[in-house]
Amino acid sequence: MCGIVGYTGPRQAYPVIIKGLKRLEYRGYDSSGVALLSDGNLKVYKKKGRVTELEEEVIGKNIEANIGIGHTRWATHGEPSDRNAHPHSSASGRLAIIHNGIIENYAQIKQELVKKGYSFTSDTDTEVLLNFIEDIQKNNHNSLEEALRIALKRVSGAYCILLMDQSDPTTIIAARKGSPLVIGIGKGEHFLASDASPIIEYTKEVVYVNDYELAIVKPDELILKNLGNEKITPYITKLDMELAAIEKGGYDHFMIKEIFEQPSTIYDCLRGRLDAEAGTIRMKGVEDNIEQLKNANRIMIIACGTSWHAGLVAEYIIEELCRIPVEVEYASEFRYRNPIVHKGDVIIAISQSGETADTLVALEKAKENGAFIFGIVNAVGSSIARISHAGAYTHAGPEIGVASTKAFTGQLVVLAMMALKIAKEKGTITDARHHALILELADIPEKVDAILKNAKEIEKIGQVYKNASDFLFLGRGYNFPVALEGALKLKEISYIHAEGYPAAEMKHGPIALVDENLPVVFIATKDAYHEKIVSNMQEIKARKGKIISIVTEGDEISPGLSDHYFSIPSADELLAPILTVIPLQLLSYYVGTAKGIDVDKPRNLAKSVTVE
Ligand code: F6R
Repeated sequence: MCGIVGYTGPRQAYPVIIKGLKRLEYRGYDSSGVALLSDGNLKVYKKKGRVTELEEEVIGKNIEANIGIGHTRWATHGEPSDRNAHPHSSASGRLAIIHNGIIENYAQIKQELVKKGYSFTSDTDTEVLLNFIEDIQKNNHNSLEEALRIALKRVSGAYCILLMDQSDPTTIIAARKGSPLVIGIGKGEHFLASDASPIIEYTKEVVYVNDYELAIVKPDELILKNLGNEKITPYITKLDMELAAIEKGGYDHFMIKEIFEQPSTIYDCLRGRLDAEAGTIRMKGVEDNIEQLKNANRIMIIACGTSWHAGLVAEYIIEELCRIPVEVEYASEFRYRNPIVHKGDVIIAISQSGETADTLVALEKAKENGAFIFGIVNAVGSSIARISHAGAYTHAGPEIGVASTKAFTGQLVVLAMMALKIAKEKGTITDARHHALILELADIPEKVDAILKNAKEIEKIGQVYKNASDFLFLGRGYNFPVALEGALKLKEISYIHAEGYPAAEMKHGPIALVDENLPVVFIATKDAYHEKIVSNMQEIKARKGKIISIVTEGDEISPGLSDHYFSIPSADELLAPILTVIPLQLLSYYVGTAKGIDVDKPRNLAKSVTVE
């Protein structure tokens, strides 16, 4: 949450920062701002709204500078407004700061500063932190770096901050705890950002800053230190990402681009791992830890949002194939209750961004108790990937639309492969079933492609129901979590209230909502529950609800009960969610766009939730 960019070097800083902020806007888009330093003058421009509004704001203003920092905000403390936008300036006007995260004890520090005569121009925790740093520097006569170190030892919470000092014309000082920071290494220049997307067109050499580290960044020097003032050797890694992957490539929105990328992202996820002919799966992270995984007494899956839904599908798959009990936990609940975690317990963490604060902290807690952490992550080099003992990347490429789509199908593919591997090693699956599922997996990209070819049919259904005020999504078995995911997507992207429910459970409450105005989406593909779900459709029809069903090609029963239906290729029920979710992603996209919503940046949301 909140996007951060910084630049120091020979180029003009402003264009680098603005371009970077646009790439990071998915992280927050309440307001944005830049601080530029030239000739000993610190200029701060900021504006409520999108980055384009900031661009308008600075027209005609002096933006000449070779060093600067910029921020796009997702509000935590203080409403979205010009005055709460970052950067913030210190009381003397000498320092500027941008911050991603939350300073939890800011109120106490603010009180102390107010007693000393400080006043504040914003409602933010960030302005408090900055004045705290300046106050320490003033009283102790120490360097900014030293004052920052002292301040950070006092604050609790999460932060990634960038600081500039008017009297130091080339240096940006950065620090991180809990919120991501990447530094790009150029020739005589450095780039700083919340993720690599603003950096990639300038350099592929980056350093991921770790928690409790400070970076002193000058055009031709990068010094990393810990909070104890000891130097750390920067570990330079090469980015494996192309510029095209973070551009819209002719699509109207990132979300639809990412939905349509799924045949190739799923293929990329399978590539090098699944050998359909030989009937084998290679996953190093699983192979290296197979004893731990197959002998687990139980597996806990920890995630949030869409990734949590992938975890629910995995619960069904792992229990079925591996016969290991699985518990799926919301990270935010796990971290604050007193969960029973034993040494050697297996925890699977699922996260697209690899930066979700609740998931990260839950894992740290489990790790402290001796659990083995297996990370299923999309963002390469992210915090969750780095704190996991082992893992598997989903290889979906950068996901920029705020609603998660291609990362979800990537997660399902990784989880299915992982379950198949464990089951094979454990002897809980027959060779024939193992091989059949491998062949099915190999066919998934083609089947997703076939579904996408009929996207127009979903667009028409979206037009019919765009003004509905509520939706119900129902599924059973492997498709129950897909019903939850369909409802979440629709809520996020179209602002229509939607609920996902196990189809049979509907009788125990939600059926009271059904009338002739309620669209009910059934995931009614051919599986062990098909007859049961057909009965549930009858129950809705009898109460005049409008039925939209996702059915298997050739099904002659469900379409007859439906007001609208969409056919998808048949698949083994265990892998069906990878297909059934696609029409639901499309439905939310088309309803959202029909309502004129900016589906890539729906209100109040941010892509990477780095605050709890
Ligand atoms: C939904 C969505 C969110 C994320 C959740 C977890 O479309 O994007 O619900 O799934 O914030 O994020 P990650 O997977 O990055 O940990």
